[in-house]
Amino acid sequence: MKKAKAGTLTILLLTTFLLSGCGLTPKTSQDEVNAPQNAINKAASEYVDTHSDDGRIVVGISMPDRLLERWNKDGSYLRAQFEKSGCEVLLRFANNLIDTQENDIRDMINEGADLLVVTAVDCSALSDVLTEAHAANVKIIAYDRLIMESDAVDYYVSFDNYKVGQLQAEYIINTLHLPTAQSERHIEFVTGDPVDNNSRYFYNGAMNTLLPYLSSGILVPLSGQSGFYETSTAQWSTDLAQQRLQIILNSYYPEGTDLDAVLCANDSTALGAVRALSSDYAQKNKVLVTGQDADIANIYSIIEGTQSMTVFKALRQESVVTVSLGLSLLEGNTPASDLITSSDWDFSCSYNTTDYDNGSKTVPSYLLEPISITQSNLEAELFDTGYYRRNSAGLIYAAK
Ligand code: GAL
Repeated sequence: MKKAKAGTLTILLLTTFLLSGCGLTPKTSQDEVNAPQNAINKAASEYVDTHSDDGRIVVGISMPDRLLERWNKDGSYLRAQFEKSGCEVLLRFANNLIDTQENDIRDMINEGADLLVVTAVDCSALSDVLTEAHAANVKIIAYDRLIMESDAVDYYVSFDNYKVGQLQAEYIINTLHLPTAQSERHIEFVTGDPVDNNSRYFYNGAMNTLLPYLSSGILVPLSGQSGFYETSTAQWSTDLAQQRLQIILNSYYPEGTDLDAVLCANDSTALGAVRALSSDYAQKNKVLVTGQDADIANIYSIIEGTQSMTVFKALRQESVVTVSLGLSLLEGNTPASDLITSSDWDFSCSYNTTDYDNGSKTVPSYLLEPISITQSNLEAELFDTGYYRRNSAGLIYAAK
């Protein structure tokens, strides 16, 4: 059955409304008077709800970027499981470009998507296109990053991202023995992309946990930089993180001045910090470096000791919850905690209806638990579980 383009429908309705609303049309014959209404009826009659009766179940998956390792895994886990359940999957990566993501999503709506699973490049930039999706009866799951300022979002699936920041801060507090420290210790912050709503959860989790030591003066960023924006890293860029830390090291950590820790919000920024330390840090002490995502390059860094820890997010579990939620929505259900209680999942997941306000509504959410990874539990959590494997040459690769 011919499909009407959602975008065209919006423009048609808008022009008709504008033309009729502001009396620009000279009232001559009855046909002309009826023209706007006829146009609406024509559009409506042509607008076919492709999302229910063409027998296809189409799932649109929009990931932010291929350069950040994890989204490739998320995309392939999600696609494999939706396809296994008989869905037709449209998977797109937006190269971290807002317009590309908006166009990707609009194309998916036009290609008959019944469900959208979206990880936003910019969490506040999708309101319009998601309103169009909603108008076309498409169900919408915000995947991993909460989509802001849109009441079209039906559900949110992620990890407890505030806890990610807490785990990074606790690692630094325990490893530097801050509760009993007598002399001043130095820290610098390399936080996340400010348009990624998760960056705030990471930042708040870390800063609130470190606050007693920052306010007592036992822990000091010699650069004086601890604010959300001044420590942020656009696009989670490794190069930007490296450049910023190189400037800080050369400006505030001359020979004789120790830096004790760099709190990096994720692994791509941690990679930049490790490079800056190896090229521009004069002292010989071991500098703690945190991370997130357990990317392969960073697992090597942790094994060799240049990075100290990362926060692991079991992406396969996040995709299992999302696919289960998506299929239930496609069956016309309105899942709640029953999605968890009726499942056979061997991992913990909580249902939250109070804490994730996206500025338009409080989005019902499913949250998973992040895990702190160091040299001591890396084998058990990442290899014994089969998340990562080593080939005959000992190189690490992600299991399918
Ligand atoms: C966040 C995500 C993190 C990390 C970061 C950079 O939104 O929760 O796991 O991947 O993006 O991609």
